[in-house]
Amino acid sequence: MHQDIKEILISEEEIEKKCEELGSIINDHYKDAKDPIIFVALLKGSVPFLARLIKYIDLDIEYDFMDVSSYAGTETTRDIRILKDLDRSIKDTNILLVEDIVDTGHTIKAIIKLLENKGAKDVKIVSLLDKPSRREVDVYADFIGFEIPNEFVIGFGLDFNEKYRHLPYVGILKDEIYQ
Ligand code: IMP
Repeated sequence: MHQDIKEILISEEEIEKKCEELGSIINDHYKDAKDPIIFVALLKGSVPFLARLIKYIDLDIEYDFMDVSSYAGTETTRDIRILKDLDRSIKDTNILLVEDIVDTGHTIKAIIKLLENKGAKDVKIVSLLDKPSRREVDVYADFIGFEIPNEFVIGFGLDFNEKYRHLPYVGILKDEIYQ
C-alpha cells in the first residue's frame, strides 16, 4: 500500500469483479441497439475504468475522449469549458458517458446537455463511484459501480494534485497529506 494512504476503500480485485458485472449489464442493455454505441470517457480520471470495463464488452463499440474544466456559472449551475472535444460527430448515436466519480453532479449534468445538443440520440452514464451525499443537482448515473461515503478518495484514475492516479485501488489519503 502507498505510504500516503490511510485505508484502501476498494481493492483491485473488487474493482475487477465490478467491471465484469457492469460489462454484463451494459452488454445486455445495448444488445438490440441499431445505432452506433460510443463510450465517451472523461480525461483523465476515467482512463483506468474505461480500460478495465471494455475488457468485458461484447458489443461493437467505439470509444472517444473529452476533457473539460468546470467553472462557476450562476449560483446554482456550473459551466464547463471544453479542453478536448470528441473526434467525430455523435448525431444519432447511443452515448455511454464513462465517469470515475459523480460527486456534486455538476459535471455530468453539463456534459449530458452538451452531448444532447450535439445530436446524440441517447445518453447514459456509467460511473465507477458515486457519492450521493454530496449531490447538488438532480442527476444520477444509470450504471454505478460503488456508492461511497463522503470521503475524498484517490487512485484508479482519481487524483490529488495530479498524484495517485496510477494506483490500482481506490483509497483514502492520510489527513496530513492535505495539510
Ligand atoms: P462533480 O461535478 O462535483 O460531480 O465532480 C466530478 C469530478 O470531481 C470527478 O470527475 C473528479 O474529477 C472530481 N472528484 C470528485 N470527488 C473526488 C474525490 O473524492 N477524489 C478525486 N476527485 C474527485
